[in-house]
Amino acid sequence: MKRVIQHIKQLVNTRTNSIVVRGAELSQLPIIDNAFIVVENGIIQAYGSMHNLNAEHLHGAELIDAAGSSVLPCWCDSHTHLVYAASREEEFVHKINGLTYAEIAAKGGGILNSARKIAQTTETELYLQAMTRLQELMKLGTGAIEIKSGYGLNTENELKMLRVIKRIKASAPIPVKSSFLGAHTYPLEFKENHNGYIDQIIHEMLPVIAKEQLADYIDVFCEEGFFSVAETQRICEAGKSYGLKAKIHANQLHASGGVELGVKLGAVSVDHLETMNDTAIQALGASNTIGTMLPTAAFFLRMPYQPARTLINANAALALASDYNPGSSPSGNMNFVVALSCIQMKMQPEEAINAATINGAFAMELQDEVGSITVGKRANLIFTQPIPSLAYLPYSFGSNLIDKVMINGRFI
Ligand code: NIG
Ligand code: FE
Repeated sequence: MKRVIQHIKQLVNTRTNSIVVRGAELSQLPIIDNAFIVVENGIIQAYGSMHNLNAEHLHGAELIDAAGSSVLPCWCDSHTHLVYAASREEEFVHKINGLTYAEIAAKGGGILNSARKIAQTTETELYLQAMTRLQELMKLGTGAIEIKSGYGLNTENELKMLRVIKRIKASAPIPVKSSFLGAHTYPLEFKENHNGYIDQIIHEMLPVIAKEQLADYIDVFCEEGFFSVAETQRICEAGKSYGLKAKIHANQLHASGGVELGVKLGAVSVDHLETMNDTAIQALGASNTIGTMLPTAAFFLRMPYQPARTLINANAALALASDYNPGSSPSGNMNFVVALSCIQMKMQPEEAINAATINGAFAMELQDEVGSITVGKRANLIFTQPIPSLAYLPYSFGSNLIDKVMINGRFI
């Protein structure tokens, strides 16, 4: 089916080819005013200014009037823990009453709490729950997503989570990438025997994951009280020997050296970045590793926000993602992620949109499929309500300004 969408108020992030956007370039967001876009078989076939809409574009096409909408590429959410078995609002209340994330974790809450729930939940139930969440996120404009394991914490349940992600990948209409996060925390029985658990990850889990092609990336929670820099390196190198590139949780609670390690390992991305020092900032800025900031995790845990401006000044390639998970970011709403990055991290709306679209696509190596308005990419598009300007999107943070979402050329 061929469709021409015409009279688009602003067509946002139009790019003839995909390059990762870094430093000062982040503020350059290509826009065409009063535009059209041609979509055929789910793919963007052409786009441009209404002045250039011609008979060939229109031939055989259904016409859709965008009627004042602005059109953006869908959000590319490159960091989520979408597969989980139960919410954790009781811990949320503990946090209100004064406990910290680390204190809750030390008491067997947090990730271990989610792991107990995963063990009791069937693969099908996990799949259905995650698909319901994914439907909600797609309506909020998410058009590509990464999902992690990490609440299994033993071979059986890590594989169960990864098989759920594989099922989502096979059935979801949007591109899905899978990360193996067996190294999310130490299970209680391995608290004093780190190498015992790491051996399990390397010798029991990774061979099956590789054989069944259950993951695209390897992830580790590199953090004090979780996995040290040396442990993270050992796990990432083992992953690499099975063809899994690294995407790691780094510098969330402490300046742990995780960012520098990620850079050294050539990680696709280092994610979180709440707690950065000068060495980490300079290392990231000088590298090809994407710095993925998760402002809703900082918001929810009442942590300092990621130093976006300093990172931009250091020429870093930055992405924004939701970190959707039951413990530190129980929301996958990328509209709020974008708003928060502008409100609290002083990102310009243009910078935030680039970080949440094209750079998010790069952080999942999906830049040839999604992340910009480019001929040949999927027609995964956000249609806004009539808005006075793009800055209105993060400004009016509490309103749902998405009118419609198109996935593979169809409105959902
Ligand atoms: O990205 N920081 C580590 N992992 C998750 C939180 C996991 C949880 O609390 O369930 C995160 O914030
Ligand atoms: Fe995370």
